Amino acid sequence: AQPKEPALPLFYGWFLISEVEEKIKCSTMEFLKTLDTLEAFKKHISEFTGDADKEVDLEQYFQTKAPLHCTTEFCDYGKAEGGKEYAEQQVVKDSCGTGTELSVVGLIVTPRTFGARVSLTPEQLLLWPTGADKLGIPPADLPGVEALPVGSRAHVTLGCAAGVEAVQTGIDLLEILILQQGEEKAVTVEELELGTLSYMGQGRWYLALREPVTCDATFSSFSE
Ligand code: A2P
Repeated sequence: AQPKEPALPLFYGWFLISEVEEKIKCSTMEFLKTLDTLEAFKKHISEFTGDADKEVDLEQYFQTKAPLHCTTEFCDYGKAEGGKEYAEQQVVKDSCGTGTELSVVGLIVTPRTFGARVSLTPEQLLLWPTGADKLGIPPADLPGVEALPVGSRAHVTLGCAAGVEAVQTGIDLLEILILQQGEEKAVTVEELELGTLSYMGQGRWYLALREPVTCDATFSSFSE
């Protein structure tokens, strides 16, 4: 009989340790509460509700996904392209179970997703798969993605609107970063205690944190 191939996981990534997870959930919910009450946000509320007169409770609007993590490689149990090659890399094998510090530098809110932007260190980039920033996105749909630095897509999905898949957070983040690089500069709407809040059109908000938030995390695979 042929020896059985080891099964591939659903995905690999850095998982926030539970104490940090709780802290991040609380502080990011606080941010949603703040955003909800801003006049600037209310002005664009219809992009979330479809109706300018309707209110939205952002804390309810986004469904939190657990456990909080930053995906590196989505293997889909072997159905996704490149998963096997990724899993076979020595650096991936050696890193499973090891700790690292993720640096959260910003938060994004769109009508679809709520996420934290992660800035990867050169060491962390060794675990970032080549092409991951573009994976699953037809280039024609996201012009400008090629020009972004490697690792731009790195993020933690904090929540998704009803019916939205988590994979959307990375796409929303890339879209915002492409807009930031473009000619049209974002409208800075508010200096908050947490950082600078910008509005990017079509219900897209970006908070550049004044101080990056460091999160202890463990690299590991995940299967359901
Ligand atoms: P993300 O990394 O943006 O949070 P799901 O729950 O949909 O099965 O996904 C499991 C994890 O894998 C999620 O964290 C999700 O998104 C990520 N993911 C799902 N599909 C893809 C994909 N095609 N490319 C990259 N990451 C994906």
